[in-house]
Parts: sequence; C-alpha cells; structure tokens
Amino acid sequence: MKDVANLKLPVMARIGDPVSRVSTPALLLDLEAFEANAQRMAELTQRHGVALRPHAKAHKSSAIAQAQLALGAVGICCQKMSEAYPFVAKGVQSIHISNEFVGADKVAMAVELAGYVRLSVCVDHVAQVDALGKAVSQAGVSIAVFPEVDIGQGRCGVKGNDALAALVDRIARYQGLSFGGLQAYHGGIQHVASWEQRRSAASVAADAAAQYVQFLAARGIACPVVTGGGTGTAEFDVTSGVFTEIQPGSYVFMDGDYGSKDWVGGWKPAHSLFIASTIMSTAKAGLAVCDVGLKGVAVDSGLPLVRPGEYGDQLKYTAANDEHGILQIAAGNERDYLGERLFLIPGHCDPTANLYQQYVGFRGDVVECLWNIDARGLSQ
Ligand SMILES: Cc1ncc(COP(=O)(O)O)c(C=O)c1O
Repeated sequence: MKDVANLKLPVMARIGDPVSRVSTPALLLDLEAFEANAQRMAELTQRHGVALRPHAKAHKSSAIAQAQLALGAVGICCQKMSEAYPFVAKGVQSIHISNEFVGADKVAMAVELAGYVRLSVCVDHVAQVDALGKAVSQAGVSIAVFPEVDIGQGRCGVKGNDALAALVDRIARYQGLSFGGLQAYHGGIQHVASWEQRRSAASVAADAAAQYVQFLAARGIACPVVTGGGTGTAEFDVTSGVFTEIQPGSYVFMDGDYGSKDWVGGWKPAHSLFIASTIMSTAKAGLAVCDVGLKGVAVDSGLPLVRPGEYGDQLKYTAANDEHGILQIAAGNERDYLGERLFLIPGHCDPTANLYQQYVGFRGDVVECLWNIDARGLSQ
C-alpha cells in the first residue's frame, strides 16, 4: 500500500483549461456577464448620485467585493459579524452590518472589527445599543449605529416614531457610538414579479422610510444616510429621493428567481452564475440523472433551470436529492445523455454560493480565474 501522506485531492479546475475540463459540480462565473452587471449597477447609482454598497452575502467572496469597489462602491454590506472578517483581512475599509445581532460573542466581534475598518451596525432594541455602547466605550473604538425601521417587511426593525426616537436617544448616551442613519430594507418587494407592482411597492416603502426621516428632521436630527434596497427595486430606489445608498447583492449574478421577473425599462441583469453538471446515470427511460443535488444547489427559490439554448428544450430539472438531480427528458428528445455536461442556473444565488469553495471564472470557453468564496459558512 502507498503512504496516505502522499494522497492529495486533485485540482478541480485550472486556469487556462477549457471549461469542459472542470470537474463537476462546479460553480461557474461567466465573467463577461458578471462585469456587465457590475458595471450597469455602478452606472445606475452614479447617474443618480446614490451610493452603492453591494451586499456581500450574495457572493461571500473578497475578490468579487474588490471588483465592486474598483467600480466605485463605497463599501460593502455583510449580514453577519463573522462574515465580515475575510473582507476586512483583504482590505475592505468600510463595512455595514445590515442586520441585528445579540450576545457577547457578536459584540466582541463588532468591537474587534471596528479597530480595523469603518464599521456600522443595525439595531432595533435599546438593549442592543446598551451592550454595544458599553463595550465600545471600554475598547475606545467607534461604531456608527443605524436603527432599522420596518418599512413593510414585518421582520426586524422598529415600527413607529417613539421606538425610533428611543433608539436615537440611547445611541447618543455612548461615547464611541454615533447615529449613522437609517436602515430601511424591504426584502419581500424585491421579488414581486410584475415590474409595475414592484415599482409601486417600492414607492410605498420609500414613503415609509421618508416619514421616519421627516420625523427625525422635525426633532432637529439630520439623517446622513438612508440605506436599503436590493436588486429588484434598485432602479426605483435610486430615484426615490429618500435612499442615499442602496445595498443590492444578487445583481452581479441574476439567479433563476430574479430572472423569472418582469423587467421593463431596459434594466435586466444577465445570468452570470451557473453550476456545471454532468449526467452520470441514464439507466431509466425518460430520465437523465445529474451530479448536482441539494449539496450543489439551493432550491428554496425553486429548482435550477437548465440553461436555455443548449439543453433547455430537451431536459427539465424536476427533483433534487442529496447528490442527484433528476432531469426529465422532453418527448421527442429521448437518447442517451450519459456523460454530457449542462449548465444549470440556480434558483437562489446566495445559499448556492455558500455551498462552494470557489468561483470558476470563465471567458468564452476558457477558465480565467479561480476566486475563493472566503466567507463561505461564516454565519455567526
Ligand atoms: C438587508 C439586505 N440588504 C440587501 C439585500 C440584497 O438583496 P438582493 O440580493 O435581492 O439584491 C438583502 C438580501 O436579502 C438584505 O437582506
């Protein structure tokens, strides 16, 4: 027997190789589509004088964050405290944690991160302010605090002027904490299918945010930043007159769910994120079984789509098991697909990216880069 010390996992993808040689399943990034999506969002925000702070929860990769910053993003959002660490390590200088957090472990992370970057965080309870305020004062660091207001999502965020005033007053008690502005995000409306209905829902949400800004102004408190918005409402948020900053994440990828929406007005990102998959069993008539199941694609927003244009008319992904993807062969297309490779479009990019270690970036048919998903699994 050979010495197991010599056993090494083979390299799954190599720069310069044809994409067809990449070991599957693999998370592929079409660099041309990705760059176009990133550029268009940068232009949209710059045209309207609104800051772009892309959400890194979508991609969890410092290489992608660097590409977004190079196009003028003011910083990034993270959703969890630990998620921010790889980005800080790679030199990102401004991070907004667009989410609430509780507990000494999270507070300690916030204090530590604030020693390295400009950090802002969200709160919706005075106890969160107290815990952070005490720790920050002791450590001698500073953090900008954004009360989250509920503009219709019905999840986190305070509702009502009194609750907001209580948070703003509490923040003022602590040296080291400053009132940064308002977090106003409505996730549900991002995914409204009709463009018209999405536009009117975005307007209702922006009005709700504006009401809080006016309330604070009447108390003599300026609101330097109003941050929120995602891929689905970005084009409306930038003209709302309320949002000074938007936080879209999925726009660089355009997953299957966003792709199924109605996009008018010329703003439709292109699919750039695919999963390379191989058909590894054709033992059953009418079926092809591929190697991408639940461990290779998130299905919370629907099953993956077979990329239109090649196998899209012949094969339909109909069920995901742990390691198997079941594809129905369309009538008239029965043949043996064993060994053939398909590109799948994931229904939801965020949890899909979290399943992989790297993006295999390709241009044309050639692998051009391998980008680590360095915040993968960091959800504390
Ligand atoms: C607070 C917050 N901001 C921004 C986003 C980005 O949304 P999207 O990926 O739809 O652009 C999300 C996504 O869930 C979010 O939770």
